[in-house]
Amino acid sequence: MHISPFVAGLPKVELHLHIEGTLEPELKFALAERNGIALAHDTVDQVRASYDFDDLSSFLDSYYDGMNVLRTAEDFHDLAMAYLTRAASQNVRYAEMFFDPQAHTCRGIPFDVVIQGLRRAQLEAEQNLGVRSGLIMCFLRDFQPEYAMATLLESLPYRAWILGVGLDSDETGNPPGAFAEVFARARQEGYLLTMHCDVDIAGSIEHIRQVVEDIGAARIDHGTNVVENPALVQTLVDRGIGLTSCPISNTWISEGSKIDVVKDLVGRGVKVCINSDDPAYFGGYIAENLQLVADEGGVDEAFLALLCRNAVDISWAPLDLKAQLR
Ligand code: ADE
Ligand code: ZN
Repeated sequence: MHISPFVAGLPKVELHLHIEGTLEPELKFALAERNGIALAHDTVDQVRASYDFDDLSSFLDSYYDGMNVLRTAEDFHDLAMAYLTRAASQNVRYAEMFFDPQAHTCRGIPFDVVIQGLRRAQLEAEQNLGVRSGLIMCFLRDFQPEYAMATLLESLPYRAWILGVGLDSDETGNPPGAFAEVFARARQEGYLLTMHCDVDIAGSIEHIRQVVEDIGAARIDHGTNVVENPALVQTLVDRGIGLTSCPISNTWISEGSKIDVVKDLVGRGVKVCINSDDPAYFGGYIAENLQLVADEGGVDEAFLALLCRNAVDISWAPLDLKAQLR
């Protein structure tokens, strides 16, 4: 995809990025070799050709399978460093990165190994690349709330390294309300809250309602189905609850990019920003996502700049950094 000089030059903030979803096939092979792991495919091209998703569940199968090569703190460091290097090349100034600790602890990789590796990359990227970043710990909603609570407690010694908590993985039949107690405790511990309400999932509006009314999250990841309920849209506006939309991801796992919906919601005053979700699997980082908005949405440069300012506004960056990003 051709990236216009305007999109390339925009200073960017990324708020919806699963660090495990940045595992490019080249790095997957390198880590597999380093850790003596056999992969199901022989070449990078074969791996890419296997990425043919038509819904969230088919994507998640590949996503969790890919993580098997991540074993040591060095692996997590290399993963995050590769992403932050790519982010710097796209003029990303600040990134809030999701990580899925349970996807690793459930296969015997200690929480400490995961977070130490990620943290070291964050410090290195700030020092050497000028990219600032934060971590958001996601709970896997297809595991029991008790496991999420145990993970929350396990994170507390690292509280200062984590901005907030999220909820991701397979949403069907796993409403946010089931995790209300976990999020209440997370809030007590000072964590900020965000939650995935994936696009075109059965029960999406009720899930968004629970996130807004019952749990009181600060942001919603995806969440664009809210457009179906004008009263709920107005609540987002009134409470300053922003949406992190991911157009290229949407083309894979929902019905279309939803760029028209983003334009509609922004027009009604909702703070929506543009993000990359799982760029190694969906084939586009933040610049490609913004370019798709430009190409398909027919929007002007001022609108693209507004989407980037929305990201700053709804970010959880410290106030001094927020002021710099504006
Ligand atoms: N985990 C990684 N990417 C995800 C997405 N888009 N939705 C839900 N869970 C995810
Ligand atoms: Zn996501």
